[in-house]
Amino acid sequence: MQFLITGGAGFIGSHLARHLESQGKVTILDNLSSGREVNLKGSTCRLLKGSVLDSRLLDEALTGMTHVFHLAAMVSVPESVAHPARCHETNVEGTRQVLEAAGRAGVKRVVLASSCAIYGNEPSMPKNESLPSAPASPYAESKLAAEKLCASARIPAVSLRFFNVYGPRQDPQGPYAAAVPKLLEAALAGLPLPIHGDGQQTRDFVFVEDVVSALRQAALHPDMNGIYNVASGESTSILQLAQTILTVTRSRSPMEHLPARPADVRFSSASIARLQATGWRPSFPLIKGLSRMLEKN
Ligand SMILES: NC(=O)c1ccc[n+]([C@@H]2O[C@H](COP(=O)([O-])OP(=O)(O)OC[C@H]3O[C@@H](n4cnc5c(N)ncnc54)[C@H](O)[C@@H]3O)[C@@H](O)[C@H]2O)c1
Repeated sequence: MQFLITGGAGFIGSHLARHLESQGKVTILDNLSSGREVNLKGSTCRLLKGSVLDSRLLDEALTGMTHVFHLAAMVSVPESVAHPARCHETNVEGTRQVLEAAGRAGVKRVVLASSCAIYGNEPSMPKNESLPSAPASPYAESKLAAEKLCASARIPAVSLRFFNVYGPRQDPQGPYAAAVPKLLEAALAGLPLPIHGDGQQTRDFVFVEDVVSALRQAALHPDMNGIYNVASGESTSILQLAQTILTVTRSRSPMEHLPARPADVRFSSASIARLQATGWRPSFPLIKGLSRMLEKN
């Protein structure tokens, strides 16, 4: 098997790359806009530096490939609010180009990294894949458009809606950093834990190794098609997350409330029944995943 991972130098992509190395040849196409070469240190993957918007490079990257994992994207909701046109270009046009090039190359399947942001503030809980979408940001709109492109592609394409993924090598720095690495870093440094809004907003935090096993299964399982949630099945408030991080790190840092972030979804809780019906199971409850992250960071 030969795997192409777009965005493979990023957080999730680099975990996937290391996992797939033992099962076939892995090529990564990444423009290193948010990904880092150091994430691939010690790996045997071939790295092509460039954009999924470069169709010549895509054709080169896809030569001989059997499976494509399309993870390259602008990944931050606040960044998409600040730069909606750039978000559309990378996430929608980028997906269109990847699907077209994958069709020309005759790959067996494409797996798209989609997002729970598509559910937005639609009130039903838990979120299952047949609920109507309610995208509340340019990022969510772009992922919905990318899923539609997958559904109408001329090659098989599966969309995985990741909930809040966390794990080792996740970047705690910068204005768009995710909650888990940011809170963990603050707790370890004895600094105040930044909580946006009242902290009652809920998320489903899913450990990156569980996401990697879902990606692999979506590429190789003979009967998978359409859209699947990828989550732990447990809903946690940001305040509960902060408290668990204080416990795991034995930190006595205080919590500091900051203004709510633009376009932030209020409540998020996932149904994982559809993916579980294919045999996939999450292996990392929050406390186990956080402990593993502490060991490996
Ligand atoms: N981390 C999460 O909680 C989460 C949740 C839902 C969905 N996702 C999706 O999973 C995927 C991976 O996210 P991540 O958390 O690893 O983020 P990341 O920023 O670490 O990875 C994205 C990668 O894409 C690369 N990239 C961006 N634009 C590119 C382009 N035009 N051409 C080539 N490469 C490009 C970046 O350099 C980076 O390596 C994304 O599609 C994201 O939308 C992530």
